[in-house]
Amino acid sequence: MKNSILLLVLLATATNLQAKLENSVCKTCHPIIYQEYEGSAHSRSSIYRDPVHKAVWDRHPAKAKNNYNCAKCHTPSDHKLISGEANLSSNEIQLTEPISCLACHQVESVEKHAKSNKNVYTDKKKYIYSNDKEKRGKKVSFKEKSYLFGLIKIGTGSPYHQIDYSNENYYNGNSCMGCHSHKQNGKSFTVCDLEVKQGESKESCISCHMPKVKGTLANQKQSVTHAYHGVGIHSVTPRILSEYIKLSMEKHSDGFSIAIKNEATHTLFPQPLRLNQLRVVIQRDSKDIVLDTHSFVRVIGKNGKPAMPWVADSIITDTTIKALETRVVQYNTAIESGDMVRVEFGYYMVNPKAAKKLGVDSGSDADKFIILKEKRFEF
Ligand code: HEC
Ligand code: HEC
Ligand code: HEC
Ligand code: HEC
Ligand code: HEC
Repeated sequence: MKNSILLLVLLATATNLQAKLENSVCKTCHPIIYQEYEGSAHSRSSIYRDPVHKAVWDRHPAKAKNNYNCAKCHTPSDHKLISGEANLSSNEIQLTEPISCLACHQVESVEKHAKSNKNVYTDKKKYIYSNDKEKRGKKVSFKEKSYLFGLIKIGTGSPYHQIDYSNENYYNGNSCMGCHSHKQNGKSFTVCDLEVKQGESKESCISCHMPKVKGTLANQKQSVTHAYHGVGIHSVTPRILSEYIKLSMEKHSDGFSIAIKNEATHTLFPQPLRLNQLRVVIQRDSKDIVLDTHSFVRVIGKNGKPAMPWVADSIITDTTIKALETRVVQYNTAIESGDMVRVEFGYYMVNPKAAKKLGVDSGSDADKFIILKEKRFEF
């Protein structure tokens, strides 16, 4: 009885809050996941939270027309903006939940289009899609069973929402592809493409980017682990993801080679702003010999010159490492015995040259070299 009253009070407050922000209701029962989400790229994808997105938007020709057509991917939860009832403004949704819990958990299917894909959201209320291998195919409503003449009540499912475990898009990662697949500009030129190739890999977007970590998934259901929701590569995630990048070295008579094995099922850093690099230093007799840095980039532009994404109509160079590819880089410095070779594989969120142009080169992490994988080889 006590429990039911508590639940009713909780639900009443939850429904009240829901009028304001979608996530506040989820937060009451999923506090750990909510906390992770707060640090994720998905809670900061608006121009008010992401200085890089803002810098690009500020220069975008659509801004003059007040046509924030980035919304369908960057701020789908600002429903008034999406429906045209309101203009872009720094409201609570833009600031805290531009891509809310529901923006991911209510994707019923993904429509494929040449320009960019489209999320089709379910119109069922309090209806959540999720992934659980043991419950695959099932649809679960809340059930409460009483034991010992009602003294003990055990509930299964969620008292707030139904859960549909039958949507395959939540197992194979397709639910991410409404936003993450590709994007063309007004000239039908593909500005950005993850070029997903599943190959032999058993991993999916979800298993790599949302691995199981410690902590319960809901207050009412004590689980040992839950799927990590702090999705975003620039904070904690490099440590988690680095295991999918393997570095190895082979010595030759006149030099050596470094192999980078990309186990991700997509191109690494295909975004035009990113700059991915391999850096090698030989430590010899307590001296550092710094070798040439190798860059892996996709430069887009026009008439053979780099240009902003809305101007570009062609690829100038593309040396990005593709899905499941092993890239071998040759060096012609001979290795001596006693050498220690330090290899760093990492990236800039924004290519330092572009960062300067966009004015995001100070005060943000945009201009820092982030190490994804580091390895030392001794001879
Ligand atoms: C009153 C508490 C409550 C509220 C509010 C609530 N949930 Fe839940 N939710 C639960 C419980 C309990 C479970 C675990 C059900 C089970 O596994 O038996 C659950 C399960 C889930 C699952 C699936 C877990 C799995 O097994 O894969 C997802 C996804 C989810 N909730 C998302 C949300 C979202 C999004 C919101 C906000 C719109 C929300 N929940 C609001 C209690 C709640
Ligand atoms: C089809 C969905 C989609 C649309 C439409 C879209 N974006 Fe994005 N954008 C994404 C995704 C997904 C990412 C993250 C991808 C990644 O990091 O590889 C992203 C990332 C970015 C980034 C990099 C952010 C960072 O912090 O590094 C910028 C800048 C950006 N978008 C600008 C824009 C602008 C400006 C518009 C509108 C004119 C726009 N995008 C429209 C999906 C979209
Ligand atoms: C509603 C659109 C949408 C959906 C659905 C979505 N994302 Fe995102 N995602 C974005 C946008 C937009 C960004 C870029 C935010 C920014 O930095 O401005 C992003 C950022 C990311 C990043 C960080 C990239 C970076 O450069 O920091 C990762 C990793 C990511 N998403 C993975 C996923 C995965 C995995 C899924 C599916 C479980 C998913 N996303 C579903 C829109 C979406
Ligand atoms: C980027 C898309 C995305 C966002 C945003 C998102 N989720 Fe999830 N969530 C997923 C996916 C995909 C899964 C399935 C992961 C799995 O079980 O392997 C999942 C799983 C869950 C689960 C079950 C965890 C488990 O271990 O089974 C809960 C509960 C949940 N989400 C709640 C939330 C809440 C609450 C929010 C908002 C604070 C939220 N999600 C935001 C994509 C998202
Ligand atoms: C085998 C593991 C693996 C799988 C599967 C995988 N990724 Fe990744 N992903 C990575 C690694 C490794 C990186 C690069 C590490 C980093 O950026 O810190 C990455 C980077 C990213 C980025 C950032 C790219 C950028 O330019 O900033 C996004 C966005 C992303 N993945 C989305 C996805 C989506 C969507 C899927 C499903 C189609 C997916 N990933 C599948 C391992 C994986």
